[in-house]
Amino acid sequence: MAIQRTLAIIKPTAVQNGHTGAILHTICANGFKLRALKMMKMTKTLASTFYQEHKDMEFFNELVEFMSSGPIVATVLEKENAIEDFRNLMGTTDPATSKPGTLRYQYGTSIRANAIHGSENEESAKREIELLFTKKEIF
Ligand code: RTP
Ligand code: MG
Repeated sequence: MAIQRTLAIIKPTAVQNGHTGAILHTICANGFKLRALKMMKMTKTLASTFYQEHKDMEFFNELVEFMSSGPIVATVLEKENAIEDFRNLMGTTDPATSKPGTLRYQYGTSIRANAIHGSENEESAKREIELLFTKKEIF
């Protein structure tokens, strides 16, 4: 299996609730290497661009409001099969259906405030990493 990079975001409520350290610990304990890490606040424009694939969904405006409502922690993670493995570590979109042991089961509080984002495929990972990090910020 190939080494891949994926973009992960600890979402505003999880940061606000003090779960950043625990989430980063779980990520590292599951074999992901941190290649980039920063705390930042998304503007509405950046959040709209980031989630552009959902622009026609009824939840899009609320999603953009939520993602720009407070600081996030963005990371680039590296590992064999990182994209699929990280999606499995996150759990399903709705924490109510996520399996025990997943990040969303443990830290998510609703389908919107579901604690964590992970890229869905290689094309999205590349686009999302380039949107949030410059080359010099990735190690
Ligand atoms: P993400 O992109 O954040 O990693 O989440 P995902 O792949 O599991 O889910 P996706 O379908 O890409 O949806 C992106 C985010 O939109 C919010 N959402 N709200 N029915 C709703 O109200 C609804 N559905 C999705 C969630 O915050 C989801 O993570
Ligand atoms: Mg998604």
